[in-house]
Amino acid sequence: MLNQHDILIVGGTGRIGSELVSLLINAGICFRILVRQQSAAQLPQHENCEIVHGDLTESSSLEVALSGIRRVFLLSRDQTRQGELESHFIELAERAGVEKMLKISAFAAGLQPPAGYGIGHAMAEKALMASGLAWTILRPYMFMQNFLDLAELIKSRHLVPLPMGKAGIALIDARDVALVAKTLLSEEGHENTVYNLSGPAALQMSDCADILTGILGYAVRYRSPPVWLTGLIMRMQGVSAWDVNMRKQLFQMIREGGEAGISNHVERITGCQPRSFEKFVREYQQVFQ
Ligand SMILES: NC(=O)c1ccc[n+]([C@@H]2O[C@H](COP(=O)([O-])OP(=O)(O)OC[C@H]3O[C@@H](n4cnc5c(N)ncnc54)[C@H](OP(=O)(O)O)[C@@H]3O)[C@@H](O)[C@H]2O)c1
Repeated sequence: MLNQHDILIVGGTGRIGSELVSLLINAGICFRILVRQQSAAQLPQHENCEIVHGDLTESSSLEVALSGIRRVFLLSRDQTRQGELESHFIELAERAGVEKMLKISAFAAGLQPPAGYGIGHAMAEKALMASGLAWTILRPYMFMQNFLDLAELIKSRHLVPLPMGKAGIALIDARDVALVAKTLLSEEGHENTVYNLSGPAALQMSDCADILTGILGYAVRYRSPPVWLTGLIMRMQGVSAWDVNMRKQLFQMIREGGEAGISNHVERITGCQPRSFEKFVREYQQVFQ
């Protein structure tokens, strides 16, 4: 039986993390959350949620946050040091007596060799698997929520420009990843297991444009520029060379059908069907109007 604040959440302000925090609060589960000072205002004030200020780059803050913790949810941002920072955190968690860690990784971490942001994840996965902790690793496919980053372009130019060609992609709603995480944090089992997490259907980006068209009431077109051109445009928009390189690797992998396979893990773990792209668009319709 877990007691007050036996669970630590790292990365609780992002797309998956903020949904996870809501799910835990609604389920009456107590937890501690490590949050960077500048992001704390985004967190809900709730008696079940103990806030500890800290940063993955500051070991002393992590030691405080990990004190008395048995289970950890670990999610961090894609950046050059992600693998190194998460590996260091895993080491500290083991030293602090944590029993089990749930890590958000990415599908591309499981490729041979890993691709794009999956490279950093693969490094942290290796550290977690080699640690003395019990672990569960979630490797989601591309999030439906990435379409929110395209909302301005969809609204103003009625265009989805992504270099995915005609590949099917089993996009997943980040909220379903959060639901899986909430289930795994609150139940026993699933130790030392990797789960690839997909949505319910492999859609081509042209299918996504058709679904947007059907719901939004204006015609949305899909255009698939070559990967190299997409990279060039991103560089001109100020995206770092490292990020562009990582994303180009992912685009290429997805374009070759890498994320077309469907897994049933969301339903098996949570008992709920993963959300469809159509449901996602309906629920975020205002963002695209
Ligand atoms: N986007 C996709 O399609 C996709 C697909 C598969 C897997 N993933 C993986 O999912 C993960 C989350 O991605 P996302 O786009 O959902 O990220 P996100 O929403 O931006 O969330 C990142 C979280 O990490 C926290 N964070 C960042 N740097 C930190 C630090 N130094 N110390 C402590 N916390 C820190 C952020 O806190 P602040 O609020 O303080 O910044 C935030 O809560 C990534 O690892 C990514 O590889 C993404």
